[in-house]
Amino acid sequence: MIKLIGSKKIKTAVFISGTGSNLNSLIKFSKNKRSPISIDLVVSNSRKSKGLKYADQFKIKKKIFNFNNVRNAERKILIQLNKDKIKFICLAGFMKILSKDFIKNFKGKIINIHPSLLPKYKGLNTHQRAIKNKDKFAGCSVHYVTEKLDSGKIIIQKKVKITNSDNSNSLAKKVLRQEHKIYPQSIIKIFN
Ligand code: GAR
Repeated sequence: MIKLIGSKKIKTAVFISGTGSNLNSLIKFSKNKRSPISIDLVVSNSRKSKGLKYADQFKIKKKIFNFNNVRNAERKILIQLNKDKIKFICLAGFMKILSKDFIKNFKGKIINIHPSLLPKYKGLNTHQRAIKNKDKFAGCSVHYVTEKLDSGKIIIQKKVKITNSDNSNSLAKKVLRQEHKIYPQSIIKIFN
């Protein structure tokens, strides 16, 4: 496990694909004295990711990698991570699946947030599936990333009640609000 040395924060990269609301919450958290991490790099697989605006806003280095060729993209990302001395990776709405080989390079040092109460609803469309199955609760999980999709050890999980009036959009919003809380909490839990 990585340990905090003195008062130096752990150099972290956040990987995104979309809106970046979790990135925004992680950046804000990282500025706090209590945060064990600093965010030094934002990685995206698409220059259209809206969340890249947070990198600009907070003057954090951002890099975009084309995943048409996954091997190539991962090789270039690893070079970048080494160059920036990144020791920890947070996946935050990153919609590409990282290869076994990539994960091996950062074993136990990649975490992800997933919008379901894992092990329920791995993969996509989690909220639609929860509503369709008439579940009483949805939720979110922060977990370690292993080579098996959405299956690593869970760090923190939070339940959200599904009401009769919920659709997948309203549920996604409710769950996101909890995601923004449990992602920082999980990082504190890991390093304390
Ligand atoms: C979040 O709900 C996150 O849990 C989910 O994508 C959304 C990204 O929102 N991640 C996955 O589905 C990963 N399989 P954001 O871009 O606003 O943080």
